[in-house]
Amino acid sequence: MVDWELSRYYRARAPEYEQIYYRDVPERRREIDDEADRLRHLTDGKTVLELACGTGYWTKVMSASARMVVASDISREMIAEAAKKEYITPPHFVCADLLDHCFRENSFDCVVLGFWFSHHPRQDFGGLSELVRFPLKDGGVVWMIDNNPPAEGPTVDSERVDEHGNNYKRRYLNSGEEYIIIKNYFQREELEQILSAEFAVKSLVYKKYYWSAVMGRK
Ligand SMILES: C[S@@+](CC[C@H](N)C(=O)[O-])C[C@H]1O[C@@H](n2cnc3c(N)ncnc32)[C@H](O)[C@@H]1O
Repeated sequence: MVDWELSRYYRARAPEYEQIYYRDVPERRREIDDEADRLRHLTDGKTVLELACGTGYWTKVMSASARMVVASDISREMIAEAAKKEYITPPHFVCADLLDHCFRENSFDCVVLGFWFSHHPRQDFGGLSELVRFPLKDGGVVWMIDNNPPAEGPTVDSERVDEHGNNYKRRYLNSGEEYIIIKNYFQREELEQILSAEFAVKSLVYKKYYWSAVMGRK
């Protein structure tokens, strides 16, 4: 079921969302740039489905190497921001709820999901993995990236933790407008357990600010 508060928050945040990528912390910047290099390499010559593409930060990275990119998001505002960028291989943008399973089975070499895992309810990780495996070709890979605790801290602006262990945080737009959204963080060991229960994990990079994983079907 769509989390309307989350999508409302991102619709409103679309024009200012990319500020997260340009914080003045050199180590953080380096981690993002290293991830971009890995992703460019991973998607070289491949067909890619990107779910929850946001403003197209990773879309642009992949457009430098991928054969074809379909980039989807539930928010028209996000897609409008993404469409302003210049791409080497222009992506096909689709406005869609990722929970709707609207992409064909067995049709992409890579499925890419940036900063979504932390917004997905813990009690439905099985559903999420089904969702990303479905459009993947045999031998294809899933790439995910997300925040680690030092990026923001699980307890900073935490509103509550629900019965499943999901953390809800207060988030503020530049205007001061407040939203409460789900945002989970994982220590390396827990992440390894969760991911390897659902996927064949090919690599897990767990750094100070971010983690990323490349995974195939089990
Ligand atoms: C944290 S942002 C990530 C954006 C982008 N992937 C990135 O890494 O910069 C989360 C994105 O999920 C989108 N979103 C929220 N709910 C969604 C849903 N049900 N289906 C598809 N996208 C959704 C939001 O509009 C937002 O663009």
